[in-house]
Amino acid sequence: MAVKEIKGKILFTQEDIWKRAKELGEQITCDYAGKELILIGTLRGAVPWMADIMKHIDLDLEIDFVSASSYGSGTISSGEVKIKKDIELEISGKEVLIIEDIIDTGNTLKALKDYFYIKKPNSVKICTLLDKPSRRTADVKGDYIGFEVPDLFIVGYGLDFDQKYRNLPYISYLEE
Ligand code: IMP
Ligand code: MG
Repeated sequence: MAVKEIKGKILFTQEDIWKRAKELGEQITCDYAGKELILIGTLRGAVPWMADIMKHIDLDLEIDFVSASSYGSGTISSGEVKIKKDIELEISGKEVLIIEDIIDTGNTLKALKDYFYIKKPNSVKICTLLDKPSRRTADVKGDYIGFEVPDLFIVGYGLDFDQKYRNLPYISYLEE
């Protein structure tokens, strides 16, 4: 296999992302007014997006992080998730909004949603920077979606290839 390099165009700039975070943040502010909201970021890819979106939500929210990987791979939808770092806040009776970098097959988020529901929150919703609906196998959808992307291998703004490129201040993709 050829060494992969970033040759792809910039799909979304930092300014595009900030603007979208503002729009979604304002919508979330309205939707969760008067409720106890907890944002749960998925490590490590969602960190830059989480930092943007939280600054546009004008509510007394709390934040926490989870690190998870779904069992199984490929096209098999798995209902199980391996929690490598669990949340520390109490979510029982509260509104959980998972902050994710990208929904690809949806396996991880489906499993993560099921896992959080065991802890008896009032609701569990998803705010994702990117959505790649062409690859979806699990029955899960984003409630707040930054941008839809085609079936490319995306990097930057938290998304990695082999743990690299997370620090790019824009969203691009890899080409062979
Ligand atoms: P899913 O369980 O297949 O929806 O994907 C879970 C995780 O795979 C995402 O949260 C990302 O961390 C990673 N992932 C999926 N697609 C891409 C991509 O295009 N670039 C980088 N990481 C990706
Ligand atoms: Mg991820």
